[in-house]
Amino acid sequence: MDKIVVTGNGPLNGDIPIAGAKNACLTLMPATLLSDEPLTLTNAPRLSDIQTMTALLSSLGAEVSSLQGGQVLAMSSHDIDNHTADYDIVRKMRASILVLGPMLAREGHAIVSLPGGCAIGARPVDLHLKALEAMGADLDLKDGYVHARAKGGLKGAVVEFPFVSVGATENALMAATLAKGTSVLKNAAREPEIVDLAECLIKMGAQISGHGTSDITVQGVDRLHGATHPVVTDRIELGTYMLAPVITGGEVECIGGKRELVGAFCDKLEEAGVDIIETNRGLTVKRANGQVNAVNVTTEPFPGFPTDLQAQMMALLCTADGTSVLEEKIFENRFMHAPELIRMGADIEVHGGTATVKGVERLKGAPVMATDLRASVSLILAGLAAEGDTVVSRVYHLDRGYERVEEKLRACGAIIERVPE
Ligand code: EPZ
Repeated sequence: MDKIVVTGNGPLNGDIPIAGAKNACLTLMPATLLSDEPLTLTNAPRLSDIQTMTALLSSLGAEVSSLQGGQVLAMSSHDIDNHTADYDIVRKMRASILVLGPMLAREGHAIVSLPGGCAIGARPVDLHLKALEAMGADLDLKDGYVHARAKGGLKGAVVEFPFVSVGATENALMAATLAKGTSVLKNAAREPEIVDLAECLIKMGAQISGHGTSDITVQGVDRLHGATHPVVTDRIELGTYMLAPVITGGEVECIGGKRELVGAFCDKLEEAGVDIIETNRGLTVKRANGQVNAVNVTTEPFPGFPTDLQAQMMALLCTADGTSVLEEKIFENRFMHAPELIRMGADIEVHGGTATVKGVERLKGAPVMATDLRASVSLILAGLAAEGDTVVSRVYHLDRGYERVEEKLRACGAIIERVPE
């Protein structure tokens, strides 16, 4: 397992290219199962999670060719010859559950391992299953697997989600495209990744409206054809790298960034005293007057402040002027970066879903441990501004969601090295 060593080295200045969205790609890839014609994704990110999804789809009989260094994924599911998504792959990546809806819709049956929890929470999939049952699926849970059947195919239905779930919305949306009749997904997720999936499905011949709002309507069709679709820009990578110049006091242009992807996040940064300028290449970010003010943050479904940027924002607020309160409303255990930041001298108190952060003058480098994807990158951000060396271990978490993080930061002046553990 590799480690990453970061040495605080003053302001970062330069350009950082933003890649395609991991969380869009992980739902766009299973969409290939809906059609016997090729689906090609461009602007795909080069991440270990994408390799894991590739392995899963290949295990089902799909062909996935990674071209142009992984930026193009040419997929074809003409012959699905295995309908079981194995625990060994699913346990490594929860998004594997997203093959359930498409496989059931196209093939009428599927056996998918329950994904189990992860560091940030139990992460059940009950809403995914309820949505498919509403469309007429028969589901049996046996030996940790969901055995799903839809004799005569799925039927259109009204699915009312009790609370917003990105993955459940994605599974239901994909399944509904081939269901007989009309489906309405109420209280649907509004994330840009949902909009991206809907736009790809429409290119494949699906009849979808209302995507991006809380009510999505789908008119089922008999079959979907192939398409080529660019993966939307990764708003979480964008927000993460926007914080790099803020935490070190420099100025960075995030190439490909669009404010509408990170609206609430930008509003909060501006409240903290950050300058964000929309350019014709992306977003330029700098600390306005060398001062970062404390701000309060509450995570919410899109268009609210993203839970996937909470850890990174906490790293910034550790050295803000004043006391900030962060409320994590989406996951039950998403403050594991706090004890690691405290090792670096941060003043943080966690009570349940609330973290109170009192700004300190400067953090000090220390050996710290990554616990989940976004926690790992928050420790790197803290290390960029800390005094001395920060050694982040278990960086395999990082490689799931950030391609070439050392290169991108080093290009802006960071002293950052990956070393074998
Ligand atoms: C997606 O996870 C993202 N992952 C997560 O990003 C992101 O944090 C999350 O959405 C929220 O935005 C991918 O897109 C691959 P949810 P997902 O269903 O779909 C509960 C990252 O760092 N819930 O919106 O699993 C759930 O436990 C990852 O890139 C149920 O109770 O999230 C959570 O508390 C982390 N039952 C809340 O809802 C269900 O059936 C929101 O989860 C489904 C979810």
